Amino acid sequence: SACVLEEKDVAPCARAAPRAHSLASMPGPTNLPLVGSLVELLWRGGLRRQHDSLVHYHKKFGKIFRMKLGSFESVQIGAPCLLEALYRKEANHPQRLEIKPWTAYRDLRDEAYGLLILEGKDWQRVRSAFQQKLMKPTEVVKLDGKINAVLADFVGRVGQINICGRIDDLYYELNKWSFETICLVLYDKRFGLLQEEVNEEAMNFITAVKTMMSKFGKMMVTPVEVHKYLNTRTWQAHTAAWDRIFSTAKVYIDRKLKRNADRSPDDLIGDILHQCSLSKKELYAAITELQIGGVETTANSMLWAIFNLSRNPVAQKRLLEEIKREVPQGQDPCGEHLKSMPYLKACLKESMRLSPSVPFTSRTLDKDTVLGDYAIPKGTVLMLNTHALSSNEEYFDDGKQFKPERWLRENSTINPFAHTPFGIGKRMCIGRRLAELQLQLALCWLIRDYEIVATDNEPLNVIHSGLLVPKRELPVAFLRR
Ligand code: HEM
Repeated sequence: SACVLEEKDVAPCARAAPRAHSLASMPGPTNLPLVGSLVELLWRGGLRRQHDSLVHYHKKFGKIFRMKLGSFESVQIGAPCLLEALYRKEANHPQRLEIKPWTAYRDLRDEAYGLLILEGKDWQRVRSAFQQKLMKPTEVVKLDGKINAVLADFVGRVGQINICGRIDDLYYELNKWSFETICLVLYDKRFGLLQEEVNEEAMNFITAVKTMMSKFGKMMVTPVEVHKYLNTRTWQAHTAAWDRIFSTAKVYIDRKLKRNADRSPDDLIGDILHQCSLSKKELYAAITELQIGGVETTANSMLWAIFNLSRNPVAQKRLLEEIKREVPQGQDPCGEHLKSMPYLKACLKESMRLSPSVPFTSRTLDKDTVLGDYAIPKGTVLMLNTHALSSNEEYFDDGKQFKPERWLRENSTINPFAHTPFGIGKRMCIGRRLAELQLQLALCWLIRDYEIVATDNEPLNVIHSGLLVPKRELPVAFLRR
């Protein structure tokens, strides 16, 4: 059948080596007793610069290397052919690295797990309940009205709060925008985060999510059991934040379930709640995690798109021309217009390549697997390094440059596994289509009304804080067209 690959079709490093080497013989940075490579990594700039160190290690050790940080051992993958090989061997229920602080909280309060942390058959059940509606472009596009309602407010706010074009804490404003959008999609509720006077309930909710996100990282590198046993401040703040997140989300989900009889045609989540056979407890966890997964990732990608367009006025001009050509004056951009806007899509894709938001994802092997030249045992954690891949000049000509055109060439030689900002395979981001629609529409609104200019041309350093974020306030200004 067409699905059967012949040996010649398989990239060389995806073929099993005749005699695979052991994991112990895999190269990697210094591996000292107890600390592994931690000291070396700290010396190279610490965890906040780990994305740069990983790029350096891939250059030094090649497509695949092993690394140990404290007691955490992983195999780092940084080549399209290895990602492809992994994808082809993928099991039915791929697993990511466990987020222990989250599961510890759920177990404590007897709450369920959502898609970010579920495993096995339970993951598949919840995933299929949401997949049909959330990953289908023709379904997701029905959300354009809701997305636009928030965008109209956002663009209005950009008009109000800029001082000579500069916006104080643009990242925070973008986070409020994506929070407002995802809440409207999930709960059918406007929080009013883009108004001058933000209501207290909304602020408490957004603060709780922020607190939870800032606390759990520490308990990924020091045992959560210890934090829980000693009732550390980190554990207390993390628990209190989740309590607030769950209690708030439950109120809105309950309201939605009650109203569920008369749904509007663009109520995707309402349809899912209505049709699926998940328990209430499972729905609380699943919806809450969709919200957690969707806010900062989208805001961050938008921030980088704004930055890249500010530094590339020629691309921005071409994008504006496309917007003007396809979206008639006085009309809101909508899903229909996007169908004939290849340059817009290429700009976004290129921005996510050059400045990815999520630097890597992970897989825990559920069986012994030969990858490249190595036999890797079951239980090993693989880190799939999107950032190292998409910044590698071996896979992208002139890779340091922002060139949307590279995605529009007819005979493109770009390997699809070199660009995976939403992950790969069955466990790929379930919010991908929604995020893309949101970002594409946001760029239409923003670029149509504003020229985004660079206010300096100094380099912009990037730090790793869960996502890849700029080290300083974005040097951009919004000039009304
Ligand atoms: C998973 C990126 C937006 C919800 C992921 C993964 C990545 C990612 C890299 C891991 C995939 C893997 O392991 O292969 C992004 C980026 C976004 C974005 C860059 C924005 C530009 C969203 C949105 C939502 C969302 C809007 C919610 C509607 C999730 C969930 C998962 C996930 C629930 C776990 C899926 C599963 O394991 O089944 N995302 N995401 N994400 N994302 Fe997103």
